[in-house]
Amino acid sequence: MDWMADSDLERRRFYIAVIYGLWAVIGAALALPASVYLFLPPAARKNEEWVEIGDVSTLPVGAPEEKIFRRNRKDGWKIMSEKATAWVSRMPDGSVVALAPQCTHLGCAYHWDEQKQNFICPCHTSAFSIDGTVLAGPAPRPLDRYQVRIQSNKLLLGPVA
Ligand code: FES
Repeated sequence: MDWMADSDLERRRFYIAVIYGLWAVIGAALALPASVYLFLPPAARKNEEWVEIGDVSTLPVGAPEEKIFRRNRKDGWKIMSEKATAWVSRMPDGSVVALAPQCTHLGCAYHWDEQKQNFICPCHTSAFSIDGTVLAGPAPRPLDRYQVRIQSNKLLLGPVA
């Protein structure tokens, strides 16, 4: 009779080990996708899109132009095409500055003032130089810039830096 009690005990231990093993497998199956979601960088950041805006040589020096273009934005598995705007300026040294269209105070759209030769935000009268530097507040920081690349005279805009 003692050997039967031993075999019951062994069987019980075996079932408990199987149950724990199954819980471990289920836990790993749930933790793996959660870890991938939490610790790997989003796909959107990996696939930064560069959009061709036009020929650099057609940009006048020192006179910003508002460029409107379409770009794809990834939101999870969805890819959306959306309208975007940049104020693009060719500087006297040949470099190009592309500014995001929102004022850094509260996000209003600003415009280039031909007479004053700077950007003016109509909401609270912030002023910015052609390269986005704050000339008058309340804007707390310079205008945001798009990343810029020039490839065989073609101007490409990347994400806002
Ligand atoms: S939003 Fe431009 S100054 Fe306030």
